[in-house]
Amino acid sequence: MEIKTVGVVGCGLMGSGIAELAAKCGYNVVVREVNDDLLAKGLKRVQGSMARAVEKGKLSAADRDAALARIKGTTAWNDLADADIAIEAAIENLELKKNIFKELDAVTRSDAILASNTSSLAVMEMASMTRRPDKVLGLHFFNPVPVMPLLEMVRTFLTSEETYSVARKWGEGLGKTVVVSKDAPGFIVNALLIPYLLDAVRMYENGFASKEDIDTGIKLGLNHPMGPLTLLDFVGLDTTLFIADEMFKELKDARYAAPALLRRMVTAGYLGRKNGRGFYEYSK
Ligand SMILES: NC(=O)c1ccc[n+]([C@@H]2O[C@H](COP(=O)([O-])OP(=O)(O)OC[C@H]3O[C@@H](n4cnc5c(N)ncnc54)[C@H](O)[C@@H]3O)[C@@H](O)[C@H]2O)c1
Repeated sequence: MEIKTVGVVGCGLMGSGIAELAAKCGYNVVVREVNDDLLAKGLKRVQGSMARAVEKGKLSAADRDAALARIKGTTAWNDLADADIAIEAAIENLELKKNIFKELDAVTRSDAILASNTSSLAVMEMASMTRRPDKVLGLHFFNPVPVMPLLEMVRTFLTSEETYSVARKWGEGLGKTVVVSKDAPGFIVNALLIPYLLDAVRMYENGFASKEDIDTGIKLGLNHPMGPLTLLDFVGLDTTLFIADEMFKELKDARYAAPALLRRMVTAGYLGRKNGRGFYEYSK
Protein backbone atom coordinates (compact mmCIF):
# COMPACT_ATOMS: atom_id res chain seq x y z
CA MET A 1 0.00 0.00 0.00
CA GLU A 2 1.34 3.43 -0.93
CA ILE A 3 0.65 6.40 1.32
CA LYS A 4 -0.13 9.58 -0.55
CA THR A 5 -2.68 11.40 1.60
CA VAL A 6 -2.38 11.85 5.34
CA GLY A 7 -5.36 12.73 7.51
CA VAL A 8 -4.78 14.45 10.85
CA VAL A 9 -7.43 14.91 13.53
CA GLY A 10 -6.72 17.90 15.77
CA CYS A 11 -4.53 20.88 14.86
CA GLY A 12 -3.18 21.66 18.33
CA LEU A 13 0.46 21.43 19.33
CA MET A 14 0.95 17.89 18.00
CA GLY A 15 -1.55 17.77 15.11
CA SER A 16 -0.10 20.95 13.59
CA GLY A 17 3.40 19.48 13.88
CA ILE A 18 2.36 16.20 12.23
CA ALA A 19 0.61 18.12 9.43
CA GLU A 20 3.68 20.30 8.91
CA LEU A 21 6.13 17.41 8.78
CA ALA A 22 4.00 15.28 6.47
CA ALA A 23 3.46 18.22 4.07
CA LYS A 24 7.18 19.03 4.06
CA CYS A 25 7.83 15.37 3.15
CA GLY A 26 5.59 15.66 0.10
CA TYR A 27 2.30 14.18 1.33
CA ASN A 28 -1.10 15.73 0.79
CA VAL A 29 -2.48 16.53 4.23
CA VAL A 30 -6.06 17.05 5.38
CA VAL A 31 -6.30 18.28 8.96
CA ARG A 32 -9.59 18.40 10.82
CA GLU A 33 -10.44 20.67 13.78
CA VAL A 34 -13.66 21.14 15.70
CA ASN A 35 -14.33 24.71 14.58
CA ASP A 36 -12.98 27.42 12.28
CA ASP A 37 -11.29 29.44 15.04
CA LEU A 38 -9.26 26.49 16.31
CA LEU A 39 -8.45 25.49 12.75
CA ALA A 40 -7.19 28.99 11.92
CA LYS A 41 -5.11 29.00 15.10
CA GLY A 42 -3.61 25.61 14.26
CA LEU A 43 -2.80 26.52 10.66
CA LYS A 44 -1.20 29.76 11.90
CA ARG A 45 1.05 27.63 14.11
CA VAL A 46 2.12 25.62 11.04
CA GLN A 47 2.86 28.83 9.11
CA GLY A 48 4.82 30.28 12.04
CA SER A 49 6.89 27.14 12.43
CA MET A 50 7.69 27.01 8.71
CA ALA A 51 8.55 30.73 8.72
CA ARG A 52 11.07 30.09 11.51
CA ALA A 53 12.56 27.21 9.52
CA VAL A 54 12.97 29.55 6.51
CA GLU A 55 14.59 32.23 8.71
CA LYS A 56 17.06 29.67 10.02
CA GLY A 57 17.89 28.55 6.48
CA LYS A 58 16.51 25.04 7.07
CA LEU A 59 13.74 25.36 4.49
CA SER A 60 13.60 27.32 1.23
CA ALA A 61 10.76 29.77 0.65
CA ALA A 62 9.71 27.74 -2.41
CA ASP A 63 9.56 24.49 -0.41
CA ARG A 64 7.58 26.26 2.30
CA ASP A 65 5.03 27.51 -0.23
CA ALA A 66 4.74 24.06 -1.81
CA ALA A 67 4.31 22.40 1.61
CA LEU A 68 1.68 24.91 2.72
CA ALA A 69 -0.22 24.35 -0.52
CA ARG A 70 -0.38 20.62 0.27
CA ILE A 71 -2.22 21.21 3.58
CA LYS A 72 -5.98 21.45 3.56
CA GLY A 73 -7.75 22.47 6.76
CA THR A 74 -11.32 21.39 7.40
CA THR A 75 -14.00 20.95 10.04
CA ALA A 76 -15.83 18.29 7.99
CA TRP A 77 -15.17 14.61 8.69
CA ASN A 78 -15.93 13.67 5.07
CA ASP A 79 -12.86 15.52 3.85
CA LEU A 80 -10.77 12.70 5.35
CA ALA A 81 -12.30 10.21 2.89
CA ASP A 82 -9.15 10.02 0.71
CA ALA A 83 -6.69 9.51 3.56
CA ASP A 84 -4.41 6.47 3.24
CA ILE A 85 -3.40 6.92 6.86
CA ALA A 86 -5.22 9.06 9.46
CA ILE A 87 -3.60 10.13 12.71
CA GLU A 88 -5.65 11.25 15.66
CA ALA A 89 -4.00 14.00 17.77
CA ALA A 90 -6.93 15.31 19.83
CA ILE A 91 -6.74 15.82 23.58
CA GLU A 92 -5.79 12.94 25.86
CA ASN A 93 -9.27 11.69 26.73
CA LEU A 94 -10.26 8.11 26.02
CA GLU A 95 -13.98 8.64 25.41
CA LEU A 96 -13.26 11.45 22.96
CA LYS A 97 -10.65 9.37 21.14
CA LYS A 98 -13.00 6.38 20.94
CA ASN A 99 -15.63 8.55 19.27
CA ILE A 100 -13.04 9.91 16.86
CA PHE A 101 -12.07 6.35 15.84
CA LYS A 102 -15.70 5.54 15.23
CA GLU A 103 -15.95 8.58 12.93
CA LEU A 104 -12.68 7.74 11.19
CA ASP A 105 -13.82 4.17 10.61
CA ALA A 106 -17.01 5.48 9.01
CA VAL A 107 -15.46 8.14 6.73
CA THR A 108 -12.17 6.60 5.55
CA ARG A 109 -11.64 3.78 3.04
CA SER A 110 -11.67 0.34 4.64
CA ASP A 111 -8.00 -0.24 3.73
CA ALA A 112 -6.76 3.00 5.34
CA ILE A 113 -4.54 2.77 8.42
CA LEU A 114 -5.84 4.53 11.54
CA ALA A 115 -3.34 5.71 14.16
CA SER A 116 -3.41 7.52 17.47
CA ASN A 117 -0.78 9.92 18.76
CA THR A 118 -1.89 9.13 22.32
CA SER A 119 0.76 9.50 24.99
CA SER A 120 -0.65 6.91 27.36
CA LEU A 121 -4.09 5.54 26.49
CA ALA A 122 -4.85 1.99 25.42
CA VAL A 123 -4.73 1.87 21.62
CA MET A 124 -6.75 -1.36 21.79
CA GLU A 125 -9.70 0.60 23.21
CA MET A 126 -9.68 2.83 20.12
CA ALA A 127 -9.16 -0.12 17.76
CA SER A 128 -12.22 -1.81 19.28
CA MET A 129 -14.40 1.03 17.99
CA THR A 130 -13.54 0.15 14.38
CA ARG A 131 -14.31 -2.69 11.95
CA ARG A 132 -10.57 -2.90 11.14
CA PRO A 133 -8.67 -3.34 14.42
CA ASP A 134 -5.86 -5.00 12.43
CA LYS A 135 -5.25 -1.61 10.73
CA VAL A 136 -5.01 0.38 13.99
CA LEU A 137 -1.82 1.25 15.87
CA GLY A 138 -0.20 3.96 17.96
CA LEU A 139 2.15 6.45 16.32
CA HIS A 140 3.47 8.57 19.15
CA PHE A 141 5.39 11.61 17.92
CA PHE A 142 7.26 14.01 20.19
CA ASN A 143 7.03 17.77 20.53
CA PRO A 144 8.05 19.66 18.40
CA VAL A 145 7.22 17.04 15.78
CA PRO A 146 9.36 18.46 12.94
CA VAL A 147 12.42 18.52 15.22
CA MET A 148 12.27 15.58 17.63
CA PRO A 149 13.86 12.48 16.05
CA LEU A 150 11.83 9.78 17.83
CA LEU A 151 8.67 7.95 16.79
CA GLU A 152 7.29 5.45 19.27
CA MET A 153 5.17 2.82 17.54
CA VAL A 154 2.57 0.94 19.53
CA ARG A 155 1.30 -2.46 18.41
CA THR A 156 -1.83 -3.91 19.91
CA PHE A 157 -2.67 -7.63 20.05
CA LEU A 158 -4.51 -7.15 16.76
CA THR A 159 -2.25 -4.83 14.73
CA SER A 160 -1.34 -6.77 11.58
CA GLU A 161 2.20 -7.28 10.35
CA GLU A 162 1.33 -5.41 7.15
CA THR A 163 -0.04 -2.37 9.04
CA TYR A 164 3.05 -2.35 11.21
CA SER A 165 5.48 -2.51 8.30
CA VAL A 166 3.66 0.09 6.15
CA ALA A 167 3.47 2.51 9.11
CA ARG A 168 7.09 1.88 10.10
CA LYS A 169 8.32 2.55 6.57
CA TRP A 170 6.23 5.73 6.46
CA GLY A 171 7.56 6.92 9.84
CA GLU A 172 11.16 6.24 8.85
CA GLY A 173 10.52 8.10 5.61
CA LEU A 174 9.60 11.14 7.70
CA GLY A 175 13.13 10.96 9.08
CA LYS A 176 12.24 9.44 12.44
CA THR A 177 14.00 6.74 14.43
CA VAL A 178 11.41 4.17 15.45
CA VAL A 179 11.12 2.36 18.76
CA VAL A 180 8.37 -0.20 19.31
CA SER A 181 6.33 -0.63 22.46
CA LYS A 182 3.59 -2.93 23.60
CA ASP A 183 0.19 -1.33 24.18
CA ALA A 184 0.98 -0.74 27.87
CA PRO A 185 0.11 2.53 29.71
CA GLY A 186 2.61 5.27 28.85
CA PHE A 187 4.55 3.03 26.43
CA ILE A 188 8.33 3.36 26.83
CA VAL A 189 8.89 7.08 27.23
CA ASN A 190 5.95 8.33 29.29
CA ALA A 191 5.95 5.34 31.65
CA LEU A 192 9.32 6.69 32.77
CA LEU A 193 8.79 10.43 32.20
CA ILE A 194 5.46 11.07 33.95
CA PRO A 195 6.49 9.95 37.48
CA TYR A 196 9.63 12.10 37.10
CA LEU A 197 7.65 15.22 36.08
CA LEU A 198 5.10 14.72 38.86
CA ASP A 199 7.92 14.28 41.40
CA ALA A 200 9.40 17.59 40.29
CA VAL A 201 6.03 19.33 40.86
CA ARG A 202 5.76 17.65 44.30
CA MET A 203 9.28 18.81 45.15
CA TYR A 204 8.41 22.41 44.24
CA GLU A 205 5.01 22.17 45.98
CA ASN A 206 6.70 20.99 49.20
CA GLY A 207 9.12 23.93 49.18
CA PHE A 208 12.11 21.65 48.76
CA ALA A 209 13.79 24.13 46.39
CA SER A 210 12.98 27.01 44.02
CA LYS A 211 11.69 26.14 40.54
CA GLU A 212 14.82 27.64 39.00
CA ASP A 213 17.09 25.50 41.18
CA ILE A 214 15.10 22.31 40.47
CA ASP A 215 15.50 22.98 36.74
CA THR A 216 19.15 24.02 36.96
CA GLY A 217 19.94 21.00 39.14
CA ILE A 218 18.66 18.57 36.51
CA LYS A 219 19.98 20.53 33.55
CA LEU A 220 23.54 20.84 34.77
CA GLY A 221 23.67 17.81 37.05
CA LEU A 222 22.28 15.31 34.55
CA ASN A 223 23.09 17.13 31.33
CA HIS A 224 19.43 17.33 30.25
CA PRO A 225 18.60 20.04 27.70
CA MET A 226 15.97 21.46 30.09
CA GLY A 227 14.77 20.95 33.65
CA PRO A 228 11.46 19.20 34.49
CA LEU A 229 9.38 22.33 35.18
CA THR A 230 10.52 23.95 31.93
CA LEU A 231 9.72 20.66 30.19
CA LEU A 232 6.25 20.64 31.78
CA ASP A 233 5.62 24.14 30.37
CA PHE A 234 6.75 22.88 27.00
CA VAL A 235 4.58 19.73 26.99
CA GLY A 236 1.53 21.57 28.42
CA LEU A 237 0.37 21.30 32.03
CA ASP A 238 -3.12 20.27 30.92
CA THR A 239 -1.76 17.56 28.63
CA THR A 240 0.48 16.21 31.40
CA LEU A 241 -2.46 16.21 33.82
CA PHE A 242 -4.67 14.36 31.31
CA ILE A 243 -1.93 11.76 30.83
CA ALA A 244 -1.27 11.35 34.58
CA ASP A 245 -4.99 11.00 35.35
CA GLU A 246 -5.50 8.39 32.64
CA MET A 247 -2.44 6.40 33.73
CA PHE A 248 -3.52 6.56 37.37
CA LYS A 249 -7.01 5.40 36.39
CA GLU A 250 -5.56 2.36 34.67
CA LEU A 251 -2.66 1.48 36.98
CA LYS A 252 -3.82 2.74 40.43
CA ASP A 253 -0.15 3.41 41.11
CA ALA A 254 0.64 6.42 43.37
CA ARG A 255 3.59 7.34 41.13
CA TYR A 256 1.03 8.56 38.58
CA ALA A 257 -1.18 10.51 41.07
CA ALA A 258 -1.15 14.17 40.00
CA PRO A 259 -0.11 16.62 42.76
CA ALA A 260 -2.76 19.17 43.80
CA LEU A 261 -0.58 22.05 42.59
CA LEU A 262 -0.63 20.76 39.00
CA ARG A 263 -4.41 20.41 39.07
CA ARG A 264 -4.87 23.90 40.58
CA MET A 265 -2.59 25.47 37.99
CA VAL A 266 -4.50 23.86 35.12
CA THR A 267 -7.84 24.96 36.59
CA ALA A 268 -6.45 28.49 36.91
CA GLY A 269 -5.42 28.46 33.23
CA TYR A 270 -1.68 28.02 33.69
CA LEU A 271 -1.17 25.66 30.75
CA GLY A 272 2.47 26.36 29.86
CA ARG A 273 4.10 27.96 26.85
CA LYS A 274 1.08 27.43 24.61
CA ASN A 275 -0.92 30.12 26.44
CA GLY A 276 1.94 32.19 27.78
CA ARG A 277 2.07 31.08 31.40
CA GLY A 278 2.90 27.93 33.30
CA PHE A 279 5.65 27.54 35.87
CA TYR A 280 7.27 30.44 34.01
CA GLU A 281 5.92 33.47 32.10
CA TYR A 282 6.14 33.63 28.30
CA SER A 283 4.47 36.96 27.69
CA LYS A 284 6.19 37.56 24.33
N1 LIG B 1 2.08 17.98 24.01
C1 LIG B 1 2.98 17.03 23.87
O1 LIG B 1 4.18 17.23 24.15
C2 LIG B 1 2.58 15.67 23.35
C3 LIG B 1 3.57 14.79 22.93
C4 LIG B 1 3.21 13.56 22.40
C5 LIG B 1 1.88 13.20 22.33
N2 LIG B 1 0.92 14.06 22.76
C6 LIG B 1 -0.49 13.63 22.63
O2 LIG B 1 -1.00 14.21 21.46
C7 LIG B 1 -2.39 14.49 21.62
C8 LIG B 1 -2.63 15.97 21.37
O3 LIG B 1 -1.87 16.73 22.30
P1 LIG B 1 -1.59 18.28 22.06
O4 LIG B 1 -0.47 18.64 22.96
O5 LIG B 1 -1.48 18.55 20.59
O6 LIG B 1 -2.96 18.92 22.61
P2 LIG B 1 -3.62 20.33 22.21
O7 LIG B 1 -4.59 20.65 23.29
O8 LIG B 1 -2.56 21.32 21.84
O9 LIG B 1 -4.42 19.99 20.86
C9 LIG B 1 -5.53 19.14 20.78
C10 LIG B 1 -6.43 19.66 19.69
O10 LIG B 1 -7.39 18.66 19.35
C11 LIG B 1 -8.59 19.33 18.98
N3 LIG B 1 -9.72 18.39 19.01
C12 LIG B 1 -10.40 17.92 20.09
N4 LIG B 1 -11.40 17.11 19.69
C13 LIG B 1 -11.34 17.05 18.33
C14 LIG B 1 -12.11 16.38 17.32
N5 LIG B 1 -13.15 15.61 17.63
N6 LIG B 1 -11.76 16.59 16.04
C15 LIG B 1 -10.71 17.36 15.71
N7 LIG B 1 -9.96 18.03 16.61
C16 LIG B 1 -10.26 17.87 17.91
C17 LIG B 1 -8.66 20.46 19.98
O11 LIG B 1 -9.54 21.47 19.52
C18 LIG B 1 -7.20 20.91 20.08
O12 LIG B 1 -6.91 21.96 19.17
C19 LIG B 1 -2.75 14.01 23.02
O13 LIG B 1 -3.23 12.70 22.93
C20 LIG B 1 -1.43 14.06 23.75
O14 LIG B 1 -1.37 13.19 24.84
C21 LIG B 1 1.23 15.29 23.24
